[in-house]
Amino acid sequence: MNLLITNIKQLVTLAGVAKKEGRHPQKEDLSVLSNAAIFIENEKIAWVGKNADAKKKFKKCKTLDAQNQVILPGLIDSHTHLIFAGSRHDEFAKRSEGKTYLEIAKEGGGILSTVRETRKASLHTLIQLAHTRITKALSFGITTLEVKSGYGLSLKDELKSLLAIAHLVKKEKINLVPTFLGAHDFPPEYKENNEAYVDLLCEAMIPEVSKKKLATFCDVFIDEGFYTLSQTERILKTAIHHGFKLRIHADEFKPLGGTELAVSLHAKSIDHLMAITEKGIEALARSNTVATLLPGTSFFLGKPHAPARTLIDAGVCVALATDFNPGSSVTQNLLLMATLAVTQMKMTLSEALSAITYTAAKSLGLEKNIGSIEVGKQADLSFFEVPSYEYLLYHFGDNFCKKVIWKGTPIQF
Ligand code: NIG
Ligand code: FE
Repeated sequence: MNLLITNIKQLVTLAGVAKKEGRHPQKEDLSVLSNAAIFIENEKIAWVGKNADAKKKFKKCKTLDAQNQVILPGLIDSHTHLIFAGSRHDEFAKRSEGKTYLEIAKEGGGILSTVRETRKASLHTLIQLAHTRITKALSFGITTLEVKSGYGLSLKDELKSLLAIAHLVKKEKINLVPTFLGAHDFPPEYKENNEAYVDLLCEAMIPEVSKKKLATFCDVFIDEGFYTLSQTERILKTAIHHGFKLRIHADEFKPLGGTELAVSLHAKSIDHLMAITEKGIEALARSNTVATLLPGTSFFLGKPHAPARTLIDAGVCVALATDFNPGSSVTQNLLLMATLAVTQMKMTLSEALSAITYTAAKSLGLEKNIGSIEVGKQADLSFFEVPSYEYLLYHFGDNFCKKVIWKGTPIQF
């Protein structure tokens, strides 16, 4: 199908950011075209230019009037825990009275409370819950979601979560990138014998998920009270052996060396980094690994933010994501994360917009296909009714998305 989109007030292409592969994005790298048009052919962007030229060039084709809206590449949320059942509002109330996230986890709440609910839920329920969340993501202008398992923590229950994702990949009109996070926590049945669960992960779960082709990435939560450095190394090396790409949760509360390890294993992304060390920053700066920062988590847990400014100035590619999950970041509003990054982490507006588009695509290994508006790329576009693109982060927490195009087709939400 061909489609001409006319009357675009501003087209934020990010062509300059893509050219620099996401390092040190400046305002001019957003490569904003005013009074623009786009021509889409067979799901891909075939032409980008001035509105006046488009009218002469493409005469007889289906046209969509953008009504003077601002268009960005479809937004990319590169870190979500979208597959879960239940809610932890009770823990939020406890935290308001002084309990910490880690104390709640130690008492068997936290991740394990969501594991209990997710194990009880049927495949159908998990699909329904995720469907509602995917619809909400689209309504925020998100056309790509990374989605983790990690609330099953047994072969059967992790497969159930991953099968839910596989079903959604076929049915939903959005790009979904599945990640196996069997190493999110230790399940209660292995509380006294963590090593036996690591054996299960390495000898049964990772090989099975790989054989069934249910995930692109493998992830581990390395932190105090969760996975140790040596357990993480064993799991990640097994994952590489079975063909997974890597992304990890590291340096969220305590730096255990996860960043240095993951860089040495060429992980695509290292996420959280609120407690990253100087050594970790140096290792990242010398690598092609993306640092995915999650300001919603710091905000919601009342913790310090990751040192975005230091990371970017050192040459690290920084992405931003919601970390959407029922415990530490209960939001799907990706643009709000970008505002937090600007006001709390001292990122520039251009860096923040790059971080939820091009750099997020890079963290998923998809930057050749999505993340900027350039000829040859998949036609994923988000339309916003705002006076100018800066307004998206300025008027914070609001949602100005009016339309989403995924693979060249307008999507209902
Ligand atoms: O990324 N850090 C580990 N996992 C999630 C939290 C999951 C939960 O609390 O349910 C995170 O913040
Ligand atoms: Fe997370």
